[in-house]
Amino acid sequence: LVKLESENLDLHCKLEFQNFMGSIKVRPAYYILRNSIESGLINKDTTVIESSSGNFAVALASICKQIGIKFIPVIDPNINKSYEDFLNSFAFKTIKVSERDETGGYLLTRVRTIENIVSEGGNYFWPNQYKNKNNFLAYYHSLGNEVGEEMNDLDYAFIGVSSGGTITGLSRRLKELYSKIKIVAVDIEGSMIFNQKPKKRFIPGIGSSKTPEILKDALIDEVVHVSEIEAIESCYHLFDKHGIFGGGSSGASLAAIKNYFKDDTLTKKPKVLFLCPDSGTSYINTIYNKEWVNKISEEHNLVIS
Ligand SMILES: Cc1ncc(COP(=O)(O)O)c(C=O)c1O
Repeated sequence: LVKLESENLDLHCKLEFQNFMGSIKVRPAYYILRNSIESGLINKDTTVIESSSGNFAVALASICKQIGIKFIPVIDPNINKSYEDFLNSFAFKTIKVSERDETGGYLLTRVRTIENIVSEGGNYFWPNQYKNKNNFLAYYHSLGNEVGEEMNDLDYAFIGVSSGGTITGLSRRLKELYSKIKIVAVDIEGSMIFNQKPKKRFIPGIGSSKTPEILKDALIDEVVHVSEIEAIESCYHLFDKHGIFGGGSSGASLAAIKNYFKDDTLTKKPKVLFLCPDSGTSYINTIYNKEWVNKISEEHNLVIS
C-alpha cells in the first residue's frame, strides 16, 4: 500500500501486481482451488477449465501446474501476447474463441464454449468466477483484512469491476471496518455490467458483457464509467507522475477518481483507496504502444460517429 502525492486527496494505492504471478487474481484462484480440493470437487484426475482474458487464467495455470492438475483456459483475441505464450507453455491446452458475441465482447462465446465441453460429461471442474461465491470470499478474507491492518480510516474505495469478485468481497469487508466508507464501482464504457449500451472494448481486465451473478452481494454506493482513452491517459499519468507502472484497470480507477473529485474544493482531504490489479508489463504492446493507442482511438471515433 503506497501513498501517492495529490493536491486535493489523501490518495493510497494497493500494488496488487506484487502478488505471486503478478496480479490480484491469484487470490480467487488459490481460494477457489483450495476449497474445491478440500470439498472433493477436484481430485487428481480433474481437468480445471475456465474462461479468462488473462490474469485469472495465468494464476490458475500456475497453481494447477504446481499441484499437478490439468488446466484448460478459454481465452479470446483481446488477450495480450505474453499471456498467451505463457498459457501455451503452462496450461494443458488452450482454447481461443474468435467470434464476438452479440454484445460486441467475447465473454458469452467463451462461456458457451465451456458449457458445451462440460455438458459432454467427464471429470471437469469449472470455477465459474462470475457465479462462484468463493471468488468474492477470497477478497473478503485476504485483501480486505490486509487493507484493514494498514489503514485506520478510509472515506472512499474505487474498485474496478469485471467478474465482480474484488468489489463484492472487498466492499463487504471494508464496510465492516469503516462505517462511513463509500464504495465506488469503476466500469469501462461499452461494458454491460451496469446495463449500459454495449460497445467494442479493447482493454482486458475491466468490464464485462454481462452482469456477474455474484455482484448482487456487493455493497456499492455509486457506479462511474470511464472511457478506454481516459483509462489509458491515466496509466501514463500513473507512470509519469507517481512512478507506478500499472495495467488498464489501474488507469481506469485513477481516471474515475480524477473525474469524481475534479470540482472538489474540500478543506479536508478525503482518504481514498484504489487498486493496481496488475502491472503495465503485460500491456507494453497495447496501452503503452502509441500506434496501438492511435488505432483504437480511431476505432472509438468510428463507433461514436
Ligand atoms: C487487471 C484486472 N483488473 C481488475 C480486474 C477485476 O476484478 P474482478 O474480476 O474481481 O471484478 C481483473 C479481473 O480479471 C483484472 O484482470
